[in-house]
Amino acid sequence: TTPVRLALLGCGTVGAEVVRLLHEQAADLTARVGAPLEIAGIAVRRLGRDRGELPVDPALFTTDALGLVKRDDVDLVIEVVGGIEPARSWLVEALRAGKSVVTANKALLAEDGGALHDAAAEGGADLYYEAAVAGAIPLLRSLRESLHGDSITRVTGIVNGTTNFILSAMDATGAGFTEALDEATELGYAEADPTADVEGFDAAAKAAILASLAFHTRVTAAHVHREGITEVTAADVASAKAMGCTIKLLCIASRGPDSSGAESVSVRVHPAMIPVGHPLASVGDAFNAVFVEADAAGELMFYGRGAGGAPTASAVLGDIVAAARNHLAGVRAPSESAYAALPIRPM
Ligand code: NDP
Ligand code: HSE
Repeated sequence: TTPVRLALLGCGTVGAEVVRLLHEQAADLTARVGAPLEIAGIAVRRLGRDRGELPVDPALFTTDALGLVKRDDVDLVIEVVGGIEPARSWLVEALRAGKSVVTANKALLAEDGGALHDAAAEGGADLYYEAAVAGAIPLLRSLRESLHGDSITRVTGIVNGTTNFILSAMDATGAGFTEALDEATELGYAEADPTADVEGFDAAAKAAILASLAFHTRVTAAHVHREGITEVTAADVASAKAMGCTIKLLCIASRGPDSSGAESVSVRVHPAMIPVGHPLASVGDAFNAVFVEADAAGELMFYGRGAGGAPTASAVLGDIVAAARNHLAGVRAPSESAYAALPIRPM
């Protein structure tokens, strides 16, 4: 059978786990897809970097990501590099050329997702990004497909693993902020620049993606009111505890009438005191939890590992399987509907 050929852009915390899963589960994946998944090339920044015992031919590595994307023998492009540029240019190139893309890049999706969706429409390709929000938790597909017949009114939750790890450690053991951040980085939870985590940019990007899908409108990172956790001190954590509370970085996206009665959307990310009896208070480590409220469904709760190489690679692999099957069948993925064009309420 002709294999489905993948260009893997990035081989760091997430990319290395994608390579491992593709290797370890090759037989099962071939059966599920109906053809073998083959890595055509892997783009990285440093060819000489020690990558341990990675089960892959070293000859596949290149620093020419754009050249790899453009190769005729590449069917799908998997982007786990991060950042706005050059990732945006690579993905626009791929999509315009009709090559579907799987990405975990929430920063790019929240900053300029429109450019990617436009390029996908132009090239007749699909954009998959389940890994971009809440790691392994199957949340975006649930919003986009399972809940598509319902009307979502509110999405609330913990969507950044690194800050949850830090706040949980400060609460449980009295660990210092810097010490806990270093540990989160060591465990592969933090972004390449952890300012994105601790200043709330990563959670704000995820909030924008969630609000866009939940409310069928285009919300960008710039629309999100954002506060991080750098101002949260050990004394704040101790006083919250004395009041029977714990501090969590929350993402809150809601749809409803503004003061004039017009339907609008509000999206914010900030630290909040949560009573210890609340289900979100017991979300520890780098776990994520998201509540979705919908008119007919009522309240749903999604919980699981929101960061780290393997949980994120699980979501990437799910998208690769879906993209590869659709590629072989010559069909498109279910479309996203950004039709509501609701105003975003400033905070
Ligand atoms: P890493 O920093 O561990 O890996 C980034 C990879 O990209 C490295 O292999 C690096 O090369 C490569 N790279 C960087 N710049 C370039 C460039 N200019 N050209 C070619 N390759 C380049 O990041 P992560 O794996 O942690 O994250 C990847 C993406 O996944 C990001 O978008 C992140 O936000 C997202 N994500 C991460 C999660 C996590 O828990 N870590 C969870 C969910 C999403 P080299 O190896 O040579 O340095
Ligand atoms: N840095 C992110 C986090 C990775 O800590 O949640 C997962 O998106």
